[in-house]
Amino acid sequence: MRDTGMENYVYGPAQRGLHWFMAAIIIIAIAVGLYAADLPKGDPSKGFLFLIHKSLGMTVLILAAPRILLRIFKGAPPYRFPIDRLTQLGAAAGHAALYVLMIAVPIGGYVMTCAEDHPVPWFGVFSFPRLVAPDKALAEITEDAHVVGAWILIAVIVVHVLAAIWHHRFKKDEVMARMAPRLATKSLKNSG
Ligand code: HEM
Ligand code: HEM
Repeated sequence: MRDTGMENYVYGPAQRGLHWFMAAIIIIAIAVGLYAADLPKGDPSKGFLFLIHKSLGMTVLILAAPRILLRIFKGAPPYRFPIDRLTQLGAAAGHAALYVLMIAVPIGGYVMTCAEDHPVPWFGVFSFPRLVAPDKALAEITEDAHVVGAWILIAVIVVHVLAAIWHHRFKKDEVMARMAPRLATKSLKNSG
């Protein structure tokens, strides 16, 4: 492995792998969810798009378990550059919100779908068990919670991504390198 001198200051490969894989599926799940929710009721692609949406969302829920366990037991690498207390607190609050939402939003979707008496398939391979009996009132509450939760998640992700870009492009510190060591060390070196 190329020695970047940063091994102790970056997230490990499992944490990085989960971060980027889950970031991709969360963003695709959001895009598919927003697009499919807007289609008229009888649209032929609606069912297929929701199968993909639910499958991606349940994958997020499952992967959140090892991810959070890794975070608890392995922790986050220390910052090797000065970073003020307020920025650290803001980042910690934002990350905590992302962890809560990456569990709460798919659970809301799962409960809502069961309460609506619809199946929760995983890419047509198998179906998740029914969590609750059909219940119209519960379906309505969890639908609102799922949609509002998803919009809060979208807002936090936008702030998170803008913060990462700001650190990388303007502050030129090593925050991005902690999660993307190859990409970031290269451009940090190039920028001298
Ligand atoms: C990370 C996970 C998830 C995210 C970020 C997410 C996000 C979204 C978004 C943005 C919408 C569109 C909201 C709207 O504009 O109406 C939506 C709708 C929906 N989602 Fe999810 N979702 C996730 C997981 C799930 C799961 C696991 C299920 C079911 C098992 C699910 C079922 C649904 C359903 C049925 C709708 C349609 C609701 C409606 O149109 O009223 N979602 N989701
Ligand atoms: C696609 C654009 C994204 C970029 C450029 C990005 C970048 C980063 C960077 C640089 C860090 C390290 C921050 C630090 O240690 O100070 C980080 C951490 C984190 N990211 Fe992202 N991220 C992206 C998308 C997402 C998405 C969609 C989620 C959704 C949940 C997410 C969740 C997290 C969480 C929870 C952490 C905290 C890791 C920890 O310390 O436990 N990221 N991200």
